[in-house]
Parts: sequence; structure tokens; C-alpha cells
Amino acid sequence: MEKYIINGGNRLYGSVNVQTAKNSVLPILAAAVLTDDQVKILNIPHISDVKNMVKILTRLGCKAIFEDDNIIIDSSVADCYEIPSELAHELRSSVFLLGSLISRFKTAKIAYPGGCDIGLRPVDLHLSSLKRLGVEISEDNGYILCKCDKLRGNEIMLDCPSVGATENIMLAAVKAEGVTVIKNAAREPEIEDLQKFLNKMGAKVKGAGSSTVYIQGVKELKGCEYQPISDRIEAGTFLVAAAMCGGEVELNRASAENISSLLHKLRENGCKIRINSDKILLESNKRLTSVKSIETQPYPGFPTDLQAQMTALCCICRGQSIITENLFETRFKYVPELRKMGADVTVINRNAFVRGVEKFKGATVIAQDLRGGAALVSAALSAEGRSEILDISHIDRGYGAFEYKLRQLGGDIIRVSV
Ligand code: UD1
Repeated sequence: MEKYIINGGNRLYGSVNVQTAKNSVLPILAAAVLTDDQVKILNIPHISDVKNMVKILTRLGCKAIFEDDNIIIDSSVADCYEIPSELAHELRSSVFLLGSLISRFKTAKIAYPGGCDIGLRPVDLHLSSLKRLGVEISEDNGYILCKCDKLRGNEIMLDCPSVGATENIMLAAVKAEGVTVIKNAAREPEIEDLQKFLNKMGAKVKGAGSSTVYIQGVKELKGCEYQPISDRIEAGTFLVAAAMCGGEVELNRASAENISSLLHKLRENGCKIRINSDKILLESNKRLTSVKSIETQPYPGFPTDLQAQMTALCCICRGQSIITENLFETRFKYVPELRKMGADVTVINRNAFVRGVEKFKGATVIAQDLRGGAALVSAALSAEGRSEILDISHIDRGYGAFEYKLRQLGGDIIRVSV
């Protein structure tokens, strides 16, 4: 077990290179199973979610070769369609492999997936959608079993725009017979990125990024080399940390368009933000003012993955805010930890009511999930005094070299073994 020790109070200055998007790389790695050719993915982030996905691919028989920051996946010898529980529980995104495995082997067996404990994360939409493509599904002792003779394209209407379900259908449908149309699809930039990658492999997918995605099945997919988009959530996390600590931070390889909902709120808080092609510069010089309300929504609305960080920011703003979480019911688990640091927040159902205090005070707190953990780190960096953040393996799921990057900006943060 490892923890962070943080001495708060330093302002942050300097520039950070944004990593490649976790939420793009994971489905893209799952898509590598769809071809016998080699797939090379550039600049993969050094995070445990990716390591676990690669572990699963290796278990399926794929070869994974690391070349500097790139990874080559060779699925030509993949011979296993089962993901055992010890691996599936490490990574919720293992569910994407259902679509890829059923496409490749016409059968798949996967233990119910894990991931962040942020409330009920059902997979009903994934399963009902696969059924529409001709897959028979049964459940046995914690495992989902899928079988089909042939995948056939169909029209699928999602009850809600699930990112994972949209991606899973795309993966199952690219080599299905005929056309698949996904209606009420999620519109996240990572879905458009998956479309680009699949098309580079020879697929015929269009419409991703809008709420209707069309997939014309093809017989075969080939290998390719691909650079996925940058991580808008990591970018947003650094911007919020800079806003909280004060200072001037420049992000390289960032997409302002993909986090425009956050930039809009940060400007409302009083931060100065400048955008120059793929650079975003944030300047924060004074105590910030609360935004009245923030409500998480599917893209292009405010991302649930930045809700915790933004709540932490509101805690030290002048004024009051209401933060509403519409996607995952228990995504306020970090709030009692922020309270230990002096925050004045009350959670009632899906709403966090925040009354701004002058500053956080250092404390020992526990990271309970990935984004909540990142919020605690930002709070501790801005706090008066020393903090310890325990259980940082949650943070390692999604932030590569996190403390190293923060130290480069002047943050006083070290990782120690417990
Ligand atoms: C993805 C992201 C995650 C982000 C989330 C929402 C990846 C690897 N993860 O997760 O970081 O927080 O999008 O932007 O890309 N739902 C159902 N049934 C289902 C599937 C989902 O009811 O079968 C519901 C969920 O409970 C939730 C909502 O749909 O309320 C959105 O979830 P979804 O978009 O599927 O999130 P993930 O794909 O799991």
C-alpha cells in the first residue's frame, strides 16, 4: 500500500503534458482483438487501468509488446474467450471485451466487471444491445455467458446514452452482417476516437460524436498504428488544481473544445484562461468566487469525472454552490474526507450543498475512488499544513506519474510505502 504526503500551500507554476486519454485507450485495446494483424497504439498512459487491460489481453492469448511509450498488440494467437473474476473485478472496462470477444470467437464468458465503487454500475444496456445483434445471453455463478451463430446488424435504441454500451455495440457490430444503427448514442469525444481507430482498421463507422452512430459491417479488419486523443479529464484535473492553489499553469496537448463545459465554469469562478491551439493556460491570482450550480450531464454537459475536483474547488470559493450528480448515485464518497479538511459541505440525495471556507486544513484522508482521490490531492495541495492521502491505488488507475507532474509544477507531494 502506498500513500501521498503533501505539504500544502505552494502555488503551481509551469507546464504539463497531458497524457493520452484513459477512456480512449481502453476500448481501443479491446478493439485490438478484432484483427489478426498487429495494432500499435502510441503514447499509452502509464496507469493501472491500462496495465490491467493488457493483463487481460495477455490472458486471452494476445501478445503485448511495449516499445518505449507505445504498445503493440498481436491478437493472431488469441485463443481464449473467458475473462476470470480476479481480472474482471480489477477493471470495469473489461466489459468492452464482450463485444470484441463475441465478434471474434462467437462466444464469450466474463465475470461481472469491477472498477470504481461509485454506485450501481449496471451492464443491462450492454447485454440487451448485444441481444439485438443476435447474441444469446445467460448468467451463471457471477459470469455472463454470450453465444451466437452469427452477429446481425440491427437498430438499437439506448434508454440512456451510455458510453460503455455505445462502444461495446460498435465493437460487436463492426464485423456483423449488415448495418447497425445506434440511436441515443453517447457523444463523448472518446467514442469519436474509437470510430476513427476502427475506420483506420478498415471498418465502416460514421456518426460517432452525434447521437446516431451507423456501422456497416465488414468482413475483415486490418492492423494499424494509432495515436488516441488526449485525456480531457486529466487536463481538467490539473486546471482545477491550479485554480485552487493559485499560480499559472499551461497544459500542452490539450483540447479546449473537449472540456469547454469546465472552462466555462472556471472562467465564471474568476480564473483567466487563454487557449492557443493545443495549449490551455490558466491563471489564478485571487480567491475565486463560487459558481451557483454545477450539474453533471452526458457530454457535452459537465463531466461526472470532474465533479469531485470541482466540488473541492467550490469548497474554498467565496459564496455558495450546489453540485448535482446525475450519473452515478454514490459519487460523493469523498465528501466526508473533504470535511475532515475543513470543508463545509452537506450531501442530500444527488446534491452537494457547499458553503465556501477560506482554506482547507491538512488532514489524513482516504481516497475511495479515482476522481474523488484526485479531488483530495488538489485539496491537500491548496491546504494549510500537511496531509496524508491513503489508498492511492485508486488514483493510479487513471493518473500516470501524477505526483511527478505535480512536483514539476511546484507541488510538495511525495509517494511513500505504508
Ligand atoms: C464511462 C467512463 C467513465 C465515466 C462515464 C460517464 C470509460 C472507461 N469510463 O463509464 O469514466 O464516468 O462513462 O461519463 O469510458 N447505465 C445503465 N446501464 C448500463 C450502462 C450504463 O443504466 O448498461 C447507466 C449508468 O448507471 C450511469 C449512466 O448509464 O448512470 C452512464 O454510464 P456509462 O456512460 O455507461 O458509463 P461507463 O461507460 O461505465
